[in-house]
Amino acid sequence: MSSRLFSEFLGFQMENPWCVASAPPTATGKLMADAFDAGWGCAIMKTVGPVEEPIINVAPRIQTMKKWNREIAMQNIELITDRRLSVWLDELKTLRKRYPQKMIIGSVMAPGHDMSAWAKLIEEMNKVGCNAVELNLGCPHGMPERDMGAVCSQDADIVYNIVSTAKSVSKVPILTKLTPNVTNIKVMAQAAKKGGTDAITVINTVNGIIGIDIYKRKPHLSVNGYTAIGGISGNAVKPMGLKCVAECRQATGLPISATGGIASWSDGVEYLLMGADQLQVCTEIMIRGFKIVDNLNKGLEKYLDEMGFQTIQEAKGELYKNVTSFDYLLKHSSSEKVQVNEETCTGCNLCVVACENAGYDALKLKEVEDKKRTQGRRKVAEVIVDKCTGCNLCVAVCPVPACMSLYDSQKAFPYQLHASYAENTLG
Ligand SMILES: Cc1cc2nc3c(=O)[nH]c(=O)nc-3n(C[C@H](O)[C@H](O)[C@H](O)COP(=O)(O)O)c2cc1C
Repeated sequence: MSSRLFSEFLGFQMENPWCVASAPPTATGKLMADAFDAGWGCAIMKTVGPVEEPIINVAPRIQTMKKWNREIAMQNIELITDRRLSVWLDELKTLRKRYPQKMIIGSVMAPGHDMSAWAKLIEEMNKVGCNAVELNLGCPHGMPERDMGAVCSQDADIVYNIVSTAKSVSKVPILTKLTPNVTNIKVMAQAAKKGGTDAITVINTVNGIIGIDIYKRKPHLSVNGYTAIGGISGNAVKPMGLKCVAECRQATGLPISATGGIASWSDGVEYLLMGADQLQVCTEIMIRGFKIVDNLNKGLEKYLDEMGFQTIQEAKGELYKNVTSFDYLLKHSSSEKVQVNEETCTGCNLCVVACENAGYDALKLKEVEDKKRTQGRRKVAEVIVDKCTGCNLCVAVCPVPACMSLYDSQKAFPYQLHASYAENTLG
């Protein structure tokens, strides 16, 4: 393993920025050992709760959503670990001895109003040699019904109480894992900072229902025809994750461990560019296994080469600073128009349909001479410049790379509204 991927997180040197998130792939010490052997730099144990809380799962509890036979999202209604705390403590001690170079993070959860339960769990994680402890304030199903999980990061006072309790007992750094299922995550991140958290982990899963079987007429994740609102994870939640990383960095300036939708090395790079420091993966491992870390590493190294970076540190970005208000965008940009590269356009008509039916009607097909055939003519898209508002829909739907693009029209906003915006279109 090349040292170029070395990453520093909360004072710990990891061989790479990849971390197995707290979830089924870290459900036992043996699994965490397997992850380390496969090459993961860090693993976060499956969350453990108070000893007296019996954890009984329902079956089934996992379902996926696929497009073209590839999983793009997963719903789970799984609870935290159902294993005894004492067994976990033994395993964590052994892992610590066997893997001194790996970052081991404990993960704990207790009721939002029972600070002594939080303190006890955090002390135990300290004693067995965890490098840090993650406070799971984000599980969106099952646990909130017991005053745990997401309800703990939907109230800033509770966040503050838990984090300050954790900081008062922990000798190792504290990561606060927040739910994205709030109106304003910045308020929760600020409360965690006020409580003294060393880092923030975002996101835990997003509330959702993965789908409906239209012929059986029941939810895809069905327990005798019933379901519960679960946690959505996987590649489809990356946009929510990026948003939360940006907001939490903006609100606190603290290090961020990113989790949510990392399915390839480039998803991880997106998070690094947004401002994250560590990259957690769960769903993609559940589907493809620990071995994916080889491709994650290879992709990352190739990216460093291509971009001329020596280290991961150099490759990191601060794009959270560029996430701003709409008003700022309006004041600091000029209007754009679309242009078509007639050489590469295949005349497939997708952009014309999208533009017509999305209301702008600024594209049509025209015939041009086909230079590849002596007598032939072919169709290409043509922009009706006065009608184009530069919305980018055609660029987004065009299947041909380097065919449609935007250019600066040199006109200030607001662009010239075309006639149909001022006229009654129904006559
Ligand atoms: C089946 C399942 C169980 C999970 N259990 C936990 C858990 O015990 N503790 C926790 O903090 N997060 C748990 N998570 C959330 C993951 O750690 C992770 O934050 C989330 O799935 C988003 O990352 P991903 O898109 O890579 O899966 C679980 C996720 C799944 C899919």
